[in-house]
Amino acid sequence: MSNDGVNAGRRRFLVAATSVVGAAGAVGAATPFVGSWFPSAKAKAAGAPVKVNIAKVEPGQQMIAEWRGQPVFIVRRTEEILANLTKIEGSVADPESAASVQPEYVDKKTRAIKPEILVLVGLCTHLGCSPSFRPEVAPADLGPEWVGGYFCPCHGSRYDMAGRVYKAQPAPLNLPVPPHSYESDDVIIVGVDQEKA
Ligand code: FES
Repeated sequence: MSNDGVNAGRRRFLVAATSVVGAAGAVGAATPFVGSWFPSAKAKAAGAPVKVNIAKVEPGQQMIAEWRGQPVFIVRRTEEILANLTKIEGSVADPESAASVQPEYVDKKTRAIKPEILVLVGLCTHLGCSPSFRPEVAPADLGPEWVGGYFCPCHGSRYDMAGRVYKAQPAPLNLPVPPHSYESDDVIIVGVDQEKA
């Protein structure tokens, strides 16, 4: 595994994001999906909000959008995933996100407006690599205790399925939750707060 940190991680993110958009585009021509929702490059640089259609995200799956040049992870969580968040509460460093970054209107434990939809800035709070989505339970490389979450390839930080960092990791804080809101059940606006939507 490369240990050279941020650049390697960012490269991985670019490859991953491209393949996700490509795969989504193949699902159906009738779905404009992420690419056409993006504002112009100029607007993005200024931090414009981004609308994301999450209709095609299946339970247990993740899609990656982009906001202000950052990857935004969006996961549709299952009942099982949500139940596991409670089970592992004693293993995460900041279970109620007291020190971590999220808007005040998200639940501090599930870190979401609607429990089933998780929205995170996908950059590790250690040195900014993009963590890998690892939803499997007990895969060989992550061990029998693993109930799904994020694994940072740069220095091995582990996060749960709410972006909460486990204890004793290089990363100090939970993955940030960006400001976001719902335009409809299927459309999230990243960059606009829930109250102001
Ligand atoms: S950047 Fe170091 S563990 Fe993620």
